[in-house]
Amino acid sequence: MKVFSICALAALLPPLSYGITLHKREDGPPKVVGLDLHRTRIPNPHIRDRVRRQKTTVKASLDNMQTLYFVNASIGTPPQQFRLHLDTGSSDLWVNTDSSPLCSQDGDPCATSGVYSANDSSTYDYVNSAFNISYVDGSGAVGDYVTDDLTIGGAKLDQLQFGVGYESTASQSILGIGYPGNEIQVIRNGQDPYDNLPAKMASQGLIQSNAYSLYLNSLDSETGQILFGGVDTEQFEGDLQTLPIQSNSDDPTSFFITLTDVTLGSRTLGSDMNLAVLLDSGSSLSYLPDTMAQEIFDRVGAVYQDGEGVAFIPCRVGESQANMTFSFSGPTITVPVKELVLDMLQITGRRPSFSNGESACLFGISPASGGSHVLGDTFMRSAYIVYDLDNNEISLAQTRVNATRSNVLEIRTGSSAVPDAVKASSPATAATGLPEGAAAGHVAPLLPLAASIVGVAAGLTSGLLFVL
Ligand SMILES: *[C@@H]1O[C@H](CO)[C@@H](O)[C@H](O)[C@H]1NC(C)=O
Ligand SMILES: *[C@@H]1O[C@H](CO)[C@@H](O)[C@H](O)[C@H]1NC(C)=O
Ligand SMILES: *[C@@H]1O[C@H](CO)[C@@H](O)[C@H](O)[C@H]1NC(C)=O
Ligand SMILES: *[C@@H]1O[C@H](CO)[C@@H](O)[C@H](O)[C@H]1NC(C)=O
Ligand SMILES: *[C@@H]1O[C@H](CO)[C@@H](O)[C@H](O)[C@H]1NC(C)=O
Repeated sequence: MKVFSICALAALLPPLSYGITLHKREDGPPKVVGLDLHRTRIPNPHIRDRVRRQKTTVKASLDNMQTLYFVNASIGTPPQQFRLHLDTGSSDLWVNTDSSPLCSQDGDPCATSGVYSANDSSTYDYVNSAFNISYVDGSGAVGDYVTDDLTIGGAKLDQLQFGVGYESTASQSILGIGYPGNEIQVIRNGQDPYDNLPAKMASQGLIQSNAYSLYLNSLDSETGQILFGGVDTEQFEGDLQTLPIQSNSDDPTSFFITLTDVTLGSRTLGSDMNLAVLLDSGSSLSYLPDTMAQEIFDRVGAVYQDGEGVAFIPCRVGESQANMTFSFSGPTITVPVKELVLDMLQITGRRPSFSNGESACLFGISPASGGSHVLGDTFMRSAYIVYDLDNNEISLAQTRVNATRSNVLEIRTGSSAVPDAVKASSPATAATGLPEGAAAGHVAPLLPLAASIVGVAAGLTSGLLFVL
């Protein structure tokens, strides 16, 4: 259906003044670790985003809700199996244990994600008891930091540090792959960072530098891929363009880049915005400035539900051929409007509808309403994104939907380590939108989770929408 035009994109690119660097190993296969990602559907993505965005702003950084994309891994000797929810917005791996009050409840709530039993692993080691995550909604997980062997995507990591929730109220296992400086033990206890999963892959020599590429693929595809230590040039169109990560400090802890221009169809919605936006794979929706979000709603026919903080759109807009574009100084990513039309089932299992009977879908953009501006999965499915944590850079290119071929190149070390990437010329520095400090960010108070799920249904009955 959608074939991205390389010509249209290339016309916007500056001259390739830095040339193209390709690294292909001649002494054996590239040192990369590739993993398939699977997507899970969640009933109302916005509710968990709301928890998460508040966490991101205060840098408390863990998510107690389902994140969309997961990978398989095993931990311990003999191996115990896990399904880990991938999260670029946090930095600790943590798992539950079967003896916790949550996981020992009837119905085995932690079975899908897996549980860790330290005493059943001969390679387990205790680190400390300083693992303590607390969530905005009042829940949390407390337990030990431990080390054990972990196998993921065919790679074996020796004695990786992670958290074990002996007391926990979240059944998911989370694989945070952000900056080590954003680890719980650093932001909460002021301890030194430890090598989290991608850092450990690099220090153990499985990959050459702490960098990975994320390919979420399109909305109608259930799988994507993460490639640690490499890029797959078949998964994107045109060139990767490289941007500096934006931060108020010399050591960034989050993936903010500078958004300069936004268009919808032929209409320019923002130019020279120089707005810091967070790339967050754990956020299902994207969150833009309020006035811009409202203009988009008006133009695409989305109806904003004030009480819920989300907009609904007739599902038939999913057939639209219109595009949005997001520019970041050099690189421009085209997001088809149909990628912003999310099917949503309520807790009743039914699809909501407008009062004229038309099916209602969730719209993939919401107003930031004072919180961080976020480009979440609704944007990231259209972009192939390389996270280079060693150089504090992000490289972007247009996703090639449903790539069938593969050409994996290794990311090496040094300042031009990402293969096939060119530096964006004169990248803009963010003028607004960066959080001031660890605790300075502020967003509206969070509704209790259960109440807000019920609230969506209530909003639908009282507003323009009604529940079938
Ligand atoms: C990509 O694959 C999905 C799932 O197989 C399919 O529904 C979709 O039409 C494909 N998209 C394109 C652009 O080929
Ligand atoms: C949207 O973008 C795609 C890919 O660049 C292009 O083929 C299509 O013509 C665009 N749609 C419109 C309405 O311009
Ligand atoms: C993870 O493992 C489960 C069960 O072992 C399997 O069904 C599933 O396909 C695997 N998923 C991925 C992403 O490899
Ligand atoms: C391991 O087993 C011992 C003895 O049964 C018990 O005291 C200890 O709490 C267990 N340790 C863990 C981490 O579960
Ligand atoms: C975990 O952190 C919370 C919030 O800071 C605190 O109230 C609680 O006492 C801590 N729990 C433990 C076991 O340290």
